[in-house]
Amino acid sequence: MGRIIAVANQKGGVGKTTTAINLSACLAEKKQKVLTIDMDPQGNTTSGLGVDRNIQENTVYELLIGECMIDECIVHTDIEGLDLIPSNINLSGAEIELIGIDRKEYILKEAIKEVKDDYDKIIIDCPPSLNMLTVNAMTTADTILIPIQCEYYALEGLSQLMQTIELVKKRLNPTLEMEGIVFTMYDARTNLSLQVVENVKDFLKEKVYKTIIPRNVRLAEAPSHGLPINLYDSKCSGAEAYRLLADEVIHRGEDD
Ligand SMILES: Nc1ncnc2c1ncn2[C@@H]1O[C@H](COP(=O)(O)OP(=O)(O)O)[C@@H](O)[C@H]1O
Ligand SMILES: [Mg+2]
Repeated sequence: MGRIIAVANQKGGVGKTTTAINLSACLAEKKQKVLTIDMDPQGNTTSGLGVDRNIQENTVYELLIGECMIDECIVHTDIEGLDLIPSNINLSGAEIELIGIDRKEYILKEAIKEVKDDYDKIIIDCPPSLNMLTVNAMTTADTILIPIQCEYYALEGLSQLMQTIELVKKRLNPTLEMEGIVFTMYDARTNLSLQVVENVKDFLKEKVYKTIIPRNVRLAEAPSHGLPINLYDSKCSGAEAYRLLADEVIHRGEDD
């Protein structure tokens, strides 16, 4: 059975989108069948996977407001084994349009039910806020993966995120679990990165991935070419790291 993983952290710029794109692509490289869902109106996961966000007739927005069926919004990307539900700026209106709708927290879950078993992994990229789009992603997900940037303010906002997850678990999705925490933008040249990793490990009892994503300029360049890192520069440190993360995600629970 497939697993639905929401990549969440209400802080912007921590590496959610970079992780969603490259984890998805590296899972597909390892022959997993992957569906990536872009839940951020910025649509950076969409463009980062080489799909033009501005010419899509049907996106996750149309899906959420009931204007299209699930099979009408799934795009086959150029990457073998990787499908995408795209998003664009229209999604920013969804929050308001869903006001007063019955069971609005469950819309995504209901909408993807039919295709869930066609995939080994479904990766959802969340927006940088704890809004109804994030709640929909958390209600749909089996697990939550939290990227944490190795910077001075790393712990800021984490207790709020944990509270939200607990609330969703209590009220909307009792089987929701933590997938794990992944450190991003690690800079081996500074002591700060190391300290952040140690602090967060002390503060949170959650599973932390052995893989740490390094700061790697190739990861920042790849999206402007519409390519995931394994296709943009297969041998760079960022590609190696996301492959290792994909391995850990595949073998989750086997060795701990
Ligand atoms: N490991 C990394 N090394 C270098 N740049 C990175 C890395 N991860 C992310 N970035 C860059 O940092 C910025 C924020 O990352 P992004 O994945 O968009 O964060 P989020 O989705 O959490 O807002 C982007 O410009 C991205 O290219
Ligand atoms: Mg993002």
